[in-house]
Amino acid sequence: MTIDDIKNICVIGAGNMGHQISVQCAMKGYNTVCTDISAEQLKKAEAFADAYLPGRVAKGKLTEDEAKAARARLRFTNDLADAAKDADYVIEAAVEVLALKRKIFADLDKMAPPHAILATNSSAIVSSKIADVTTRPDKVLNLHFFNPALVMKLVEVVQGPHVSDETCRISMELCTKLDKIAVHVKKEVKGFLLNRIFLRIYEEAQWMLEMDVASVEDIDKACVYGAGHPMGPFTLMDLTGIDLAYTMCKETFMDTGDPADLPRPHLVEHYVKGEYGQKTGKGWYDYTKK
Ligand SMILES: NC(=O)c1ccc[n+]([C@@H]2O[C@H](COP(=O)([O-])OP(=O)(O)OC[C@H]3O[C@@H](n4cnc5c(N)ncnc54)[C@H](O)[C@@H]3O)[C@@H](O)[C@H]2O)c1
Repeated sequence: MTIDDIKNICVIGAGNMGHQISVQCAMKGYNTVCTDISAEQLKKAEAFADAYLPGRVAKGKLTEDEAKAARARLRFTNDLADAAKDADYVIEAAVEVLALKRKIFADLDKMAPPHAILATNSSAIVSSKIADVTTRPDKVLNLHFFNPALVMKLVEVVQGPHVSDETCRISMELCTKLDKIAVHVKKEVKGFLLNRIFLRIYEEAQWMLEMDVASVEDIDKACVYGAGHPMGPFTLMDLTGIDLAYTMCKETFMDTGDPADLPRPHLVEHYVKGEYGQKTGKGWYDYTKK
């Protein structure tokens, strides 16, 4: 298979990541089907596409014809079988729960054509924990986009031991076609490449908060005004989702059994209150007041 054989992309999950990955794929010329079990999420994703594409025209980034063509290439459905049946490449961006991803990939393996590459956008679950539920482990890998997926250029292509060089090469080439910068992560390590570096910052930021060394605001300020980061770790967590940070810690703990990997008390507090960050209006910061 070559990159030119990839025409149809299926994106699973229309949440934070999936809805933007879908629009990016459609804008870059791929017939894209976005699927989710939640009708509400699909409706929101469709409304986003309907507003975003004309917005790009207004900003002079797309012509009207390009926006119309992109919209025509993009379809939303709650039927996984329908979404996967013609896919050459699948990008799964459903919630960060291993058991759920394994079920999705087992289903996908039956529903998607045998040549299709099945990628997960997981932030922390390596594809070798999923690939064995399929009959094509050499075609199952991590393709890790960053949030917001329409804006952030980086994509990590993670080559676990079961992933073929061909799958990896096509995935790297696909990223280029999607106008992204791909990096090849040659081994499955916790956090992959960039989050492995950021994990240290998250851990230290939360430790300082738990120890009452500094406030959320001041820790964020230090990273922005001292280290030149575009935003501090708590603002970033509000953007990416406190629910995601929480489930990532839980999944890591299940894996390692190390209490140091458990979510920290302040993080748990926000999680149990349903304060997931920007998407719920409140997280480390209160967005209802802004
Ligand atoms: N949020 C981030 O910053 C970020 C960045 C990179 C990668 N990721 C990864 O992307 C994935 C999605 O994260 P998100 O932040 O978009 O989550 P999200 O909670 O915003 O969206 C997840 C979506 O998956 C849907 N879903 C749940 N079960 C499903 C199923 N069986 N079939 C289809 N859809 C299903 C939910 O209805 C929801 O719309 C996760 O694996 C996460 O680790 C997230």
